[in-house]
Amino acid sequence: MTTEHASTPDAVHQSVVEENIKLHELEGPNYLLRHPEQTNYYQMRRLRGLIAETAAALGTSAPKNLDIACGTGYLLLEFLKQGFDCTGVDLSEAMLASLQKILPAQSADRCKLLCQDIFEFMSAHEGAFDVVSIGAALHHFDAYENVVRWACRSVAPGGWLVIAFEPLKQAIDSPVRYRLHRWLAGVDERIYRISRRLRGIEVDLDTSEADYQRKFGGIDPNTVTGLITTEGLEVVRVDKYCTRRYGLMASIANNWIGSQNTFDVIARKARA
Ligand SMILES: C[S@@+](CC[C@H](N)C(=O)[O-])C[C@H]1O[C@@H](n2cnc3c(N)ncnc32)[C@H](O)[C@@H]1O
Repeated sequence: MTTEHASTPDAVHQSVVEENIKLHELEGPNYLLRHPEQTNYYQMRRLRGLIAETAAALGTSAPKNLDIACGTGYLLLEFLKQGFDCTGVDLSEAMLASLQKILPAQSADRCKLLCQDIFEFMSAHEGAFDVVSIGAALHHFDAYENVVRWACRSVAPGGWLVIAFEPLKQAIDSPVRYRLHRWLAGVDERIYRISRRLRGIEVDLDTSEADYQRKFGGIDPNTVTGLITTEGLEVVRVDKYCTRRYGLMASIANNWIGSQNTFDVIARKARA
């Protein structure tokens, strides 16, 4: 597939890209410190489980991972630990610079980082990667559907697609659950803000333009699974869950309230 932004004009794409560069220039140096919802014990357990599951199912030595919009390496570093050769593509120099600083020296030769708009990278590479991963990033793209289609095509026969940590677009199923969800989110956010101030990470950033798909309420997992199925992959699981800044809050949200605001999808391509 060549570069196409079927559902958005080029001017929109350009503006979303510029907003992403601006935002991640500021976030780059402290990205994961600013986002404990991605690194708390509850979320890390979930993430490591997901990656270990795909690695175990592959069973090949030195499998290849492409991490789309790798940022500071949230997924990519875990794939490296599991023995993958990794390629990370991201348009933010600041995010990649932070990742470069923490890349373990012993695995640096198994990791290639490219500073590029994924919409420009998206040609060729058909069937080139054992696992194609996208973490917390689809909602930053305008025509995200094209990225999902292309990602599917880039998975090798017998390989996997992992889409993790996307904001879930959903209807409110229970007003009571929704109120509890909002209340817990408020407590979680207040503690987070105090802790951020104490640690000197104070800047409040406007993410509204860079988080493009949030304007439409997030990403609908049914759209994603529909695209994956049309591309001929089998959807193995869709996990819907609730993220919170702190692991304890995430645990309360998931185990007691049963609320959801995020999803992961894993899919596999049949062996040739
Ligand atoms: C919320 S961060 C997530 C980073 C990382 N995947 C993670 O889970 O921590 C979103 C990332 O998407 C990148 N990004 C946004 N639009 C992009 C594009 N068109 N091409 C490549 N990267 C992009 C940003 O630079 C940023 O690093």
